[in-house]
Amino acid sequence: MLKIPDNGCTLITLAGFSSKKNYFCEIYNCLRTFLENFDMDLKIKDKLFVVTGASSGLGNGVARALLREGARLIAVARNEEKLKEFQQSNPDLIETLTSDVIRSNDHDRILRQVGNRFLSGVLINAGGPPAMSFIETQLADWDTAYQNVLRWKVSLTKMLLPIFVKQQYGRIVYIESAAVKQPIKNLVLSNSLRLGVVGFVKTLSQEIADKGITLNIMAPGFHETPAAERLYVKRSENENISLDEARKKYESEINVGRMGDALEFGTLGAWLLSPLSGYITGQTISVDGGTIKGIMG
Ligand SMILES: NC(=O)c1ccc[n+]([C@@H]2O[C@H](COP(=O)([O-])OP(=O)(O)OC[C@H]3O[C@@H](n4cnc5c(N)ncnc54)[C@H](OP(=O)(O)O)[C@@H]3O)[C@@H](O)[C@H]2O)c1
Repeated sequence: MLKIPDNGCTLITLAGFSSKKNYFCEIYNCLRTFLENFDMDLKIKDKLFVVTGASSGLGNGVARALLREGARLIAVARNEEKLKEFQQSNPDLIETLTSDVIRSNDHDRILRQVGNRFLSGVLINAGGPPAMSFIETQLADWDTAYQNVLRWKVSLTKMLLPIFVKQQYGRIVYIESAAVKQPIKNLVLSNSLRLGVVGFVKTLSQEIADKGITLNIMAPGFHETPAAERLYVKRSENENISLDEARKKYESEINVGRMGDALEFGTLGAWLLSPLSGYITGQTISVDGGTIKGIMG
């Protein structure tokens, strides 16, 4: 929501309008009330979305932003207890599905839960690969990372695509990482395998652009979530510093000077999942507080 300052009337007076203060203040206050009650309508009320990784972090941020707009969700994650806890926040709009999305066999269950309802979109998201330098990795780590970062996303996209093609409408959004634009230290598996997702998403977006289906990738920089906690731990171990020092080091690399918030991230996710984003497809959009230094970041 757009915020305008509380002290607007004082500013009007200071700006030299004191003789007509009441008149300007009345206009200012009307405008303020209007803007503060103005929410962009994403036109997704009662629309159905699948959100994987919905119980925590960035996926949860997108899920909450969708709920704020009155959308209905099939919330997917592995831990049933955490999912149920999330469902309690809005039992009328949230259905849950306990599933390990990395296991392609489980994707049938997502399809079955959607049934023959109109599916407006899907957020494809789960945890990232472990933090490792190249030297630390064994070949087996690369095989696992392929399964955990790339393969299941191809599989779920292939499963859901016929629904969207039949509807001639659909929004697919992936959460990857700013690492696809600027490699992050100690995250060689993420830096490498996520580029495969960017490649297939861009290609598919072009293959089906005329079918009302868009595919986009969100590329988060550092956000305050349990996944970020795991990075602090790794950095504090590697550099022999405290967790707090590790956190501060990450923050010092972010131009806006703070970690991102999952709900502010989710607001963009909800918009990308809405019909309003129909002319944007095949994009990898950074949400990183200005961390990426490259011109095309
Ligand atoms: N946070 C950041 O600063 C940041 C920055 C760049 C990139 N990213 C990437 O963004 C993505 C989301 O990160 P996050 O911070 O939101 O992580 P998070 O807080 O750990 O949340 C991950 C969510 O995905 C679910 N999940 C994990 N593995 C799953 C699986 N196999 N099947 C189904 N659900 C699964 C988790 O629930 P269950 O454990 O119950 O399944 C949880 O709901 C990750 O790929 C991460 O690497 C995050």
